[in-house]
Amino acid sequence: MAELLLINGPNLNRLGSREPSVYGQRTLSDIETQLSDHAGQAGHRLHTFQSNAEHELVERIHQAGDEAVAFILINPAALTHTSIALRDALLAVAIPFIEVHLSNVHAREAFRQQSYISDIARGVISGFGPYSYELALAAALRELENNQA
Ligand code: DQA
Repeated sequence: MAELLLINGPNLNRLGSREPSVYGQRTLSDIETQLSDHAGQAGHRLHTFQSNAEHELVERIHQAGDEAVAFILINPAALTHTSIALRDALLAVAIPFIEVHLSNVHAREAFRQQSYISDIARGVISGFGPYSYELALAAALRELENNQA
């Protein structure tokens, strides 16, 4: 059994009511519950964390390093485009991770097309709404299986 961690950054606690035409109708707790169930069915455990504060996200990533988390799924939201601190935290713990976005950031404003973490991610999934998280979990589970084999 592996421990996985789903991290969501600023404003994603407002999913469901926040710009539904861009981010969809589903709430974050709905998405978290579904993903935790899927991970559980696959014999793993998914922990979830959301914060609007950069330093709390950095702390949670450090904690993951101490907890033997095997894989991180992370949607850093706006911090994707600004945060060297998050990049450095992910490098510090060296846990493989997938960068997730609900919207297709490459089809939006120019400032969203820069990511401080894409080049160090195992992969990037962007543009499928809440389904982006399901795709990311499926990819993470496949990676874990391949690493065990
Ligand atoms: C987002 C895209 C970011 O540009 C934006 O700041 C978000 C959400 C997404 O999931 O599409 O808050 O990460």
